[in-house]
Amino acid sequence: MHTPEQTRIQQKLTKDFLKQQVAGKIPIESIDDLRSVLKFHEYRYYIMSDPLIADAEYDQLYKTLERLESENPQLVIPDSPTQRVAKGLTKEFPTVQHLVPMLSLENSYNAEDLLDWDRKARELAKLDQIEYCVEPKFDGASISLVYENDMLLRAATRGDGVEGDEITTNIKQIRSVPLSARFSEYGIQLVEIRGEVLMSKASFKKYNEQLTAQNLSVLANPRNAASGSLRIKDSAEVKRRNLEAFLYNLSYHVDLPGAKEKSNALDKHSATLDMLWNLGFRSPVKEKKVFKGIQAVIDYVLAFEKTRDDLPYEIDGMVVKVDDIDLQDRLGMTTHHPRWAIACKFKARQGTSKLRNVEYQVGRTGSITPVAKIDPVPIGGVTVTSVSLFNEDIIREKDLMIGDTVLVERAGDVIPYIVKSQAELRDGTEKPIQFPRNCPVCSHALVKPPEEAAWRCVNPACPATVVERIIHFVSKDAMDIRSFGDANVRKFYELGLLSSIPGIYKLDMEKISAIEGFGKKSIDNLAAAIEKSKQQPLHRIIYGLGIRYVGETTAKTLTNAVSRLKDLQDFSVEQLLTLEDIGPKVAGSVFEFFHTPDNLLMIDELEKMGMVLSNSKKQSLQAGSLNGQTFLFTGTLTHFTRSVAEEMVEANGGKLLGGVSSKLNYLVVGEDAGSKLEKAKKINTVKVISEQEFLKLVEANNA
Ligand code: IVH
Repeated sequence: MHTPEQTRIQQKLTKDFLKQQVAGKIPIESIDDLRSVLKFHEYRYYIMSDPLIADAEYDQLYKTLERLESENPQLVIPDSPTQRVAKGLTKEFPTVQHLVPMLSLENSYNAEDLLDWDRKARELAKLDQIEYCVEPKFDGASISLVYENDMLLRAATRGDGVEGDEITTNIKQIRSVPLSARFSEYGIQLVEIRGEVLMSKASFKKYNEQLTAQNLSVLANPRNAASGSLRIKDSAEVKRRNLEAFLYNLSYHVDLPGAKEKSNALDKHSATLDMLWNLGFRSPVKEKKVFKGIQAVIDYVLAFEKTRDDLPYEIDGMVVKVDDIDLQDRLGMTTHHPRWAIACKFKARQGTSKLRNVEYQVGRTGSITPVAKIDPVPIGGVTVTSVSLFNEDIIREKDLMIGDTVLVERAGDVIPYIVKSQAELRDGTEKPIQFPRNCPVCSHALVKPPEEAAWRCVNPACPATVVERIIHFVSKDAMDIRSFGDANVRKFYELGLLSSIPGIYKLDMEKISAIEGFGKKSIDNLAAAIEKSKQQPLHRIIYGLGIRYVGETTAKTLTNAVSRLKDLQDFSVEQLLTLEDIGPKVAGSVFEFFHTPDNLLMIDELEKMGMVLSNSKKQSLQAGSLNGQTFLFTGTLTHFTRSVAEEMVEANGGKLLGGVSSKLNYLVVGEDAGSKLEKAKKINTVKVISEQEFLKLVEANNA
């Protein structure tokens, strides 16, 4: 779809737009170009996974389009990139009929099954050899999309195969589904295509981390995450889940009136995958392969299975399809399955075992995680003996009892989980699981706010949370004190050599050298790693402090808002709320952390131990052109996103403040500015400027 020449033109257009944008002038005639620039970059990002511009630049262009369209509503078109916006809550998902029933596939589990299937197909077709297209079997939730006159008309779930739920608004939140596609270039007026909605392994992990940080129930696996997402009423939530869609079958089409003979793209299944890719869909073009005869198919399936864990998303097998569409039609279908396609299922990653006991782990924030101890069971090459049950609700939902036979699943790098208990196999000896009401380590009473999923131990001196906090502080993404490791933290704690985070910097190396296994070399390494960690950047320290709900991204946001760690003490909850992506929960937790005397003492102690608790990046940037000037943005910004604006300030050596005070030099006001503007007007040293004036200021400084 995009030749190098087209890419070059799109890049030039992008640059022109970005330049004009900073100058505050975008001619209205270019709105179509702007939309095509945005679509091009969405394609590079979501389909090709090879972006050409920075996220912030994309945001800037997107905001411009939003502004132009809001100023000129008559110019809005249905497939504009802005039209994916989630609009309120969906009240219901009407039932719609699929144009062609969504059949499921027959399964095969080994080479014999495939040889058998191929033999039957050849007999029916009266052929010696058949050409097959082999592609991944995506493990998500199936959908069907209908495009008419090049526009996405509707999207639906599989439902019972004949009728499904109409979920168009939710599907529009998936950026790899184009809102329009030029099927007309292939002579097609109406088309129904099938595909699978997935959550990548990385998005799944990230999403679950966010849920854990908020003390909410995690999603069991990427497949459930995808299928559970399709019928969510809040489409903004669907957007947050970062879903992807692979399209793999053209099930029905109507030609345009007067379309000449049938396009070649529709003769072979493999060619329709190419066509879909060229039209901007994510179809498995790179993964698909066409083979003559079944033996080569079997070899490819076996080889592909070995690479299963390297893929960014889950697949549970491969699908073999007769490549020739006429032959597909001749083979037809049984009552349940097409005869021209078959699924080759990979080895199951499930196993059954007995639930023997439940242990309770205390996490860094005091949350209690129940862990099922099961009889060892091999699943996908790993012996599983422990399975997290996440929280008390899951135990109830899955109706688990000690002594139950349980079905366990392990999918790639997803941690193992219990699919279900087999209640029908109970013999009466099973015992209910008693969730504790006191901390299993320090016996302090546990608490559980109704909106949260986990019970927590709130004793700040609970040995379990103290140890977990130290482990978190030294971990790779925080202070990265490599030689430490969980086992050493536990050992030093048990021996009374380490009882707090600042204690790391006061470790008695002589006493440690008396412990078995600690030679001179390992002691030297440990001491050097601890010393080096004093220079870690501030965002790692903030993350390492283990403030509830503060992950790596929030730690960076907080870092960008201050020059020194201690500045955070001066932020009110309201000021914290003005920072990007910080909501009431996070703001409340940060405020509480910096107003708890023990934590302030800990920070003092760390500083005394020689730790660098300032934002070095910020200080060095202050040599820039907005040199030390302070800025705050308020109201709805229409010329750029808040993050772009804040980057501009920082890149030019300016400083961002969290609230209006006499320390503030500039308040930049967008639309509907409220109390901050009122407050600023009362302080005569604060200059109130518009977005355009801000851009001029930046430009003047760059001149
Ligand atoms: S083809 C009429 N291709 O697996 C044949 N299905 O029962 C249409 N699936 O319901 C299906 N990856 O949800 C096809 N590359 C692929 C697939 C695929 C996953 C799903 C689909 C189907 C189920 C099999």
